[in-house]
Amino acid sequence: MSEALRPVPRHVAIIMDGNGRWANARGEQRMYGHARGEAALFDVVEGAIELGLEWLTVYAFSTENWSRPDDEVAFLMQFNEDLLLRRRDELNGMGVRVIFIGDRNDPRVSDRLRGHIADTEALTAGNDTLHLVFAFNYGGRREITEAARALARRAADGTLDPADIDIGHVAASLYAPDMPDPDLVIRSSGEIRVSNFLLWQAAYAEFSFPETLWPDFRREHLAACVEDYRRRGRRFGGVATG
Ligand code: IPE
Ligand code: IPE
Ligand code: MG
Repeated sequence: MSEALRPVPRHVAIIMDGNGRWANARGEQRMYGHARGEAALFDVVEGAIELGLEWLTVYAFSTENWSRPDDEVAFLMQFNEDLLLRRRDELNGMGVRVIFIGDRNDPRVSDRLRGHIADTEALTAGNDTLHLVFAFNYGGRREITEAARALARRAADGTLDPADIDIGHVAASLYAPDMPDPDLVIRSSGEIRVSNFLLWQAAYAEFSFPETLWPDFRREHLAACVEDYRRRGRRFGGVATG
């Protein structure tokens, strides 16, 4: 008797890592690796649709990535802006709904980029083939801190009794309250750490750490991680069943 496979994950989240090493291994600057990561991302988006995923979250820029050299930060800001402008119509045509999570109101994020983010979200708001979430200027600690601040404000103005605050209140105060928790978190490049990604939401996620550097990552790598996930037993603190 063959073992039953669990359904495909509803939500896969990816830490797109290894761009700099990919470029350096070719004697190129780190920026070249970021630029080549675009093809990986779009192949993976198509792969996610083929697999029937509902949600795909990708880590594009962390709250800690500001500490990189100025020219790399400037490149990444411009690159994200260009990418949105060049490819939002294509994403829209594919039925992709684009959502951004992270601190977009940070003064270091340009007004122009903030505008493109809002425009892309509005353009694609009616789509539901795939929800594509860009974690941009995102940090899990900042997200939870902002949620705590919002709840503290409600407590201070008397609209919420602190004794009533439960997990649901915190979850509803995160950047995208309607986003389901990721079932599977993938980090490319062989690094085995979480680097401040979806700290709250990944509480019971499965993890996968393929060695492939992000610019080489394609839909078949996603499919292999999903296939592996489908053979795993999840317990959520309970006991194995079946
Ligand atoms: C991930 O690749 C992309 C971003 C963090 C924006 P890296 O730039 O971290 O590449 P490595 O890890 O240095 O190889
Ligand atoms: C995490 O990768 C952030 C993104 C992929 C956007 P980093 O390369 O910044 O993480 P560390 O520094 O290796 O932990
Ligand atoms: Mg890295």
